[in-house]
Amino acid sequence: MTHDTTRVSRQQLSLLPDEAEQPLQRGEPPNQEEPFSVRPARADLACQDNLEFMRSIPDGSFKLIVTSPPYNLGKPYERKAELDAYLEQQDQVIEECIRLLHPKGSICWQVGNFVDNGEIVPLDTLLYPLFRGRGLRLRNRIVWHFGHGLHCTNRLSGRYETINWWTAGDDYTWNLDPIRVPSKYPNKRHFKGPNIGKLSGNPMGKNPSDVWEFPNVKSNHVEKTIHPCQFPVELVERLVLSMTNEGDAVFDPYMGVGSALIAALKHGRDAAGCDIVEEYVEIATQRVAELEAGTLRTRPMGKPIYDPSLPRGGH
Ligand SMILES: C[S@@+](CC[C@H](N)C(=O)[O-])C[C@H]1O[C@@H](n2cnc3c(N)ncnc32)[C@H](O)[C@@H]1O
Repeated sequence: MTHDTTRVSRQQLSLLPDEAEQPLQRGEPPNQEEPFSVRPARADLACQDNLEFMRSIPDGSFKLIVTSPPYNLGKPYERKAELDAYLEQQDQVIEECIRLLHPKGSICWQVGNFVDNGEIVPLDTLLYPLFRGRGLRLRNRIVWHFGHGLHCTNRLSGRYETINWWTAGDDYTWNLDPIRVPSKYPNKRHFKGPNIGKLSGNPMGKNPSDVWEFPNVKSNHVEKTIHPCQFPVELVERLVLSMTNEGDAVFDPYMGVGSALIAALKHGRDAAGCDIVEEYVEIATQRVAELEAGTLRTRPMGKPIYDPSLPRGGH
């Protein structure tokens, strides 16, 4: 169903209607090259201010709210606001997101630094009280490391941002197995004690830890669009797979070109998102359609980082 008004354009799309009868394959590790989950999923995209978009949504609707808000860094889509005004605006959005959060749900708020005249202000430290003060619990402060960015001359070049993972309560959805990564020594065995000779690590791989390395979406990235700061889809996939189950719903209140929605839909989760820039919403809608058609290219989860010291960069 699609309806347009002069201010709001909202698209509701349904993926894979022909496969609705296929059985779910729960409990199996995801095939990281597969473009789709088996479950048909719905997408709800709007060109709308997020506070307006959220107003009509019932409490507790989303198992995962994952977003990267504007950083106040003077990107083309931002009006450079004073930090206090920025935090006041974030406060309202966060309050409304918490209303929409499922009791077993998670919020992942991804930010970097506000840079003011060469001084850096780590935004997650300023946002912390807005979540903690409303009773959410911080489970991890994930450091996302990437290789490319501005080269600084008067300080070290910044090569990480953070994702603060908050849960609504202590009983939260959490699946470690789908996001395990290969162990360093997969064949290592106990050499003494009652388990002597048995594998000492989990054969499905190890916990990926709280430091993640994914290439950021720069010009040569397969997912690059006109958006100046997209999420890499694989980063959100890791959050979706570990913090939701098939059939849950995922929301991005600052959707951009819809990378979080793509990650959710790929794995059979319903997805909703909004953005105030019409061009971004059009691209997001197009990307969802390409996902449905099986033509959307995303960087596969688990693909090694390009390493110039290895033949063919290690790929
Ligand atoms: C850092 S970008 C997010 C990019 C997104 N993660 C992606 O992968 O494309 C922030 C986005 O927030 C949008 N935005 C800014 N203010 C907004 C508002 N009040 N409501 C909805 N979206 C807004 C901007 O247009 C921008 O696309």
